[in-house]
Order: sequence, then C-alpha cells, then structure tokens
Amino acid sequence: MTDEISYARVKSDVESAQSYSQRKQDKHEQEMAMLAKAFAKTKDVHKVLDAPCGVGRASIWLAQQGKQVTGIDLGEAALALAAELAQKAGVNAQFESQDIFALTYADKAFDATLCFRLLHHFESEALQARLIAEICRVSDRYVVMSRISPSSFTSLRRRLRRVLSGKAIKQYPVSAAQLDAEFAKHGFTPLGKVARSELLHSLQLHVYMRK
Ligand SMILES: C[S@@+](CC[C@H](N)C(=O)[O-])C[C@H]1O[C@@H](n2cnc3c(N)ncnc32)[C@H](O)[C@@H]1O
Repeated sequence: MTDEISYARVKSDVESAQSYSQRKQDKHEQEMAMLAKAFAKTKDVHKVLDAPCGVGRASIWLAQQGKQVTGIDLGEAALALAAELAQKAGVNAQFESQDIFALTYADKAFDATLCFRLLHHFESEALQARLIAEICRVSDRYVVMSRISPSSFTSLRRRLRRVLSGKAIKQYPVSAAQLDAEFAKHGFTPLGKVARSELLHSLQLHVYMRK
C-alpha cells in the first residue's frame, strides 16, 4: 500500500466520462434521493462545492435545488461533459479543474461540501485522512461524505467474489467510527447518516457539522 496520491481513477478520457453519465437511471435516482435526505439535515446552505463532480450528476441536482454550485474534478472529459449536461438541464453551475487534495479555495469558502463516491477508492488511511482534511478545510458548516460500509451484505458478497475470482479489490470500506474520528480531528461532529438499507447496500452518506 502506498501513501502517494493515486490519479488512476481520474476520468480524463471521453469514454469513461460518457459511461458514467450513462449510469442506470434507477441507480442514479436512488443516489439523488439519498442526497436529498442528506441535504435535508442541513440549514441555510447556499454555496456548495461538489468534489469530485465527475460528469456533474450531483452538481446538476444541487443547482436544481437552488444552490450555488461549484463542481470540481481533474478529469477533463468529465468536466466538459458536466458543463454540457448542466447547460442541457438549464441550470447554472460552475465547473473547475482542481485536485481534491490541493484545492485552491480559501478556508471555509463553501457553506457545504459534498464528496460523493471517491473516498472508497483510496486504500491508504493516510490518503483518506488527507482527503477529509482538505474537504473540511474549505467547508464552513457542513460536509456530506459517502463511504462504503464494510459490514453490508453487498460489501461482504463483493469481498467473497474477489477472493474466489482472485481479482484485485478496488473498493476500500471504512467504518462509521473511523470516519467520525477523522472528522472530529477537524472540528466536525456527526449530524446523521443516510443509507438505502444499512445492512443490504454498501453506499452510505454521512452528514457532518462544524462544532
Ligand atoms: C466515481 S467518480 C464520482 C463522481 C461524482 N461524485 C458522481 O457521483 O457522479 C470519481 C471522480 O473522481 C475524480 N477524481 C479522482 N481523483 C481526483 C482528484 N485527485 N482530484 C479531483 N478529482 C478526482 C475522477 O475523475 C472521477 O470523476
């Protein structure tokens, strides 16, 4: 395991960006419903950072909720597609090329930051901690962070399949206690979490508030 930042998951090419924009509609809708429940726990949030934004799925949804959205990603093709899809959807969102580990924004620049579907790509706890530190730094009041739960049925089944097939593991679960402890280091306290079904589905959203 290395603590060096891995850029293997950056969606720079058109093909991988497009395949993400063609995610199954029901899955997309379920994920946006999770975001709705998570943001319902926040108050007076106007300026939101969507980091990373990928092809802008959440940025577009947030803009549709009346938020002032900045979406960042390092994938050039993903950013271009995000801007195109936002325009098609008739919403205003700003998309910028930024490295999530070294954002150029001031401390507390955003009311809230959403970090959706990235943390579980990093195996190294040191990298996970760096990611959380940078997200907390630019967030004035809230962070909405996704994680993959180690104890859900889907996670266990995925692990078993990997062991049986011998394929490399690409998703790294984190426990709620680990995540809470990491956010506590930056003065954030848990406000609640959202899961479709905690035991069945592995993707969970945690909402943190600055103390
Ligand atoms: C699984 S996608 C999730 C995108 C979006 N949150 C969504 O759910 O549609 C992960 C994204 O992280 C981006 N990414 C990976 N490493 C990054 C980094 N260091 N800085 C910014 N973006 C990064 C990739 O380009 C990719 O678009």
